[in-house]
Amino acid sequence: MKGSDRLRRLASYAFVAVLAMAVVACNEAHPNSTLDPHTDLGREIDFLWNRLLLLGTIVFVLVEVILIYVVFRYRRRENQGMPPQTHGSTKLEIAWTLIPAVILVFIAVPTVRTIFITQARAAPGSLNIEVTGHQWWWEFRYPDYGVTTANEIYIPTGRTVNFRLRSADVIHSFWAPELGGKRDVVTNRTNYMWYTPDSSISSNVWNGFCAEYCGASHANMRFRVFTVTRQQFESWVAGQKLPARFGAVSSGTGAAGSTQPGYIFPREQVPDYAVPHSPIPSGLKFTPGLTGNAQRGLKVFTSSACIGCHAIAGNPMAMGTTGPNLTHVGSRLTIAAGRFPNAAAYLALWIKNARAMKPEIIMPTLGVDEYDPVLKTKVTAATGGLTDQQIADIVAYLTALK
Ligand code: CUA
Repeated sequence: MKGSDRLRRLASYAFVAVLAMAVVACNEAHPNSTLDPHTDLGREIDFLWNRLLLLGTIVFVLVEVILIYVVFRYRRRENQGMPPQTHGSTKLEIAWTLIPAVILVFIAVPTVRTIFITQARAAPGSLNIEVTGHQWWWEFRYPDYGVTTANEIYIPTGRTVNFRLRSADVIHSFWAPELGGKRDVVTNRTNYMWYTPDSSISSNVWNGFCAEYCGASHANMRFRVFTVTRQQFESWVAGQKLPARFGAVSSGTGAAGSTQPGYIFPREQVPDYAVPHSPIPSGLKFTPGLTGNAQRGLKVFTSSACIGCHAIAGNPMAMGTTGPNLTHVGSRLTIAAGRFPNAAAYLALWIKNARAMKPEIIMPTLGVDEYDPVLKTKVTAATGGLTDQQIADIVAYLTALK
């Protein structure tokens, strides 16, 4: 009687635990869940995972039921003598050799099948994107279109994307959990991955991550994937192929249904999970109320250290390749590889004090009289330090580069 009471209580605990797990599992608010795939590749991996989980669960339940049964049925009882001693049983030994072998066949066949599918080359006619991992940002090139961008990619739904993955320094790993599996990004070897986004996700933004520890700012090495319609993609590419349209009136870029070059995913449609919420480190300040002048900003940018690392098509002085290509930086959603929103206030602090906002990066501290945590010294005007007004001008210039 007492034993069955305890069993009943245990069962009710187990029921509550399973219920809690089910509630958490069914919650839709998991924007970075790899268990909710939106591509063919994602579904292949998900299918394999579900299959292995099912088989594993069956084996687990069977083994546990038999184990618990045996523990209770054959436990030691009072006044019980020595039980009969047995040694060796050919039948049993054959059985417990055969059963795991059969189970392994059921696991191996779908696993090998998935490996063959996911390792195959992308179909001809796929959209090529060259991915280069840097400490700590992503360089994206569209070789078929001559477009280079950073930390944000646009891909059309319904068309296979073929990623060529390489690293400029250490090992990274390219991962957009809702779109496909992870793949390592290695220096001396090109890895490939392809997937076809479902046409049902033609107006979405997805988070991407570096999934291999790669140094101090590994967690700050993110990217965004915009899945758009074919027409929107063509328009975006046409806009990105143009040199920086600084000075031109940046109208028409957001017009609904517009087919003129330069589609940009509307900011107001970006889901909250894709908007960075990183707090600004304490102690960083910027003179309030400064108005930047884009024309002046162009001059400051072109005569400062910026051009040593950044390229801007249309600005022949800016040809650096160490940092992200800034040709259309004004059209991007985030800065600092997805760490902060691309807004004037963040951009100003970033230029002034990048190393305080993202540890150990190559981008130097540029604010005059600011402390550089890598050089362990204060920045002066003689070493290229910029005043808040100069930074505000650069911000105005970069923001205009749509
Ligand atoms: Cu790159 Cu972690």
